[in-house]
Amino acid sequence: MLAHARDAALLVAARPSVAALLLAGRAVAARGVVRVPRVGWVTASPVLARQALNDHRAFSMVGEGGVGHLWAQVLGPWVTELFDGPGHHDLRSRSRELFTDAAAREQVAQVWGPLLASARAALASGGEVDVADLSRVAVGRMMIASLGIPVGGSDPAGGGTGRDGDATDDDASDDDARRVFAQGERLAATAMRATTQPVLDASLVRVARDVVGDLTAGVPHAYRTAPGTTLLGRMRELGVTEREATGLSALLLVAGTETSASAMQRTVALLVDTGEQHRLLREPGRLDDAVREGLRVSTPAVVIGRSVAADVELGGRRLRTGESLLALVWSANTAVGGFRLDRPYAAENRQLWFGAGRHLCLGAPLARAEIRGLVETLWADGAPLRVVRRSAQRGVLVPGYRRLVVARA
Ligand code: HEM
Repeated sequence: MLAHARDAALLVAARPSVAALLLAGRAVAARGVVRVPRVGWVTASPVLARQALNDHRAFSMVGEGGVGHLWAQVLGPWVTELFDGPGHHDLRSRSRELFTDAAAREQVAQVWGPLLASARAALASGGEVDVADLSRVAVGRMMIASLGIPVGGSDPAGGGTGRDGDATDDDASDDDARRVFAQGERLAATAMRATTQPVLDASLVRVARDVVGDLTAGVPHAYRTAPGTTLLGRMRELGVTEREATGLSALLLVAGTETSASAMQRTVALLVDTGEQHRLLREPGRLDDAVREGLRVSTPAVVIGRSVAADVELGGRRLRTGESLLALVWSANTAVGGFRLDRPYAAENRQLWFGAGRHLCLGAPLARAEIRGLVETLWADGAPLRVVRRSAQRGVLVPGYRRLVVARA
């Protein structure tokens, strides 16, 4: 019980008002769809959330003031196509093979090999590892390697010592990785603010444009030169255009940095706090169960919002065009019960932590491989761990740890 209270405390530290909604949502999940003042329609039912996410006619991601609105001003109006409608469908069809489980596991082994090896060595020698920082560095490195982000003061225009797309992140430092992670966080926070502004203020657009420009400066070069074994090389081979690859890269940064780091840290803490680490050590075949339970209980993307694009009935209520629906996915996923590696399969919650329908997380195989890689490493020597110190991130979009220091028990 304490283990789950500790995890829920991260939500309170992140955004108290959202946490209150999520905790209340869990209590009223059975009531279907309810209207909450100043929020709109809300549901914590996994069945209704999935129904809405699968109904692309009535529910849209690109409503007025939506995040697509920001991207269109940052990258150009063609972006709206990328988010919805036939353009989105076409892009998703071409990028279906972008992240496969096998490719993602290989990518994790390649990009994180030395980083994870040094964490394992630190634990083996009786030292401490800050899993919160390790996760941020690891995810930052993954983005640098995947998107050919220029590092180390190199010239982003491709001259001088600019990075080649076929380079791994070997020459990136941990500080480069932390910087990229922080930029991803900044972009996500800007995108979030944009969803509450019907008319975007110019400074917001400028911030987003600067961050995107900085982080995607290496994309065109990497897109043209990277081999098919890299993410951008795969995009090219799958027929994703250079312009789409740039937009997609910005999207990956927003969607795949904080979320992944959050799930990684919290899965580790949950394994220790619930004592389920002992089951994992006894039954190593349960690694995939640990990843799935970590994703379910943490559900880093705590809510998924949609605007109502056509009048529709959901859970016996009539939702009108122009209204909005907030699916409290964290509430829906955690109502099932606590973190247990032998938890029976619950069909209604299947993958709901990655959304559902046409916007189902594109990076899910990578996220799974990342959590798996971290958990596998930390328990590789068969020794249980303890949490030495921890503190929560405050005022962030995605709940997580600022510090999570572990050592051998
Ligand atoms: C634990 C980590 C992650 C979680 C919990 C997560 C969750 C989600 C969710 C819930 C959505 C659907 C949003 C909606 O329907 O409005 C989504 C979409 C998306 N995610 Fe993830 N994500 C994670 C990691 C990643 C990673 C690592 C990447 C890529 C590197 C990624 C890329 C994307 C993209 C591109 C979309 C948009 C897909 C579309 O609109 O078609 N995500 N993610």
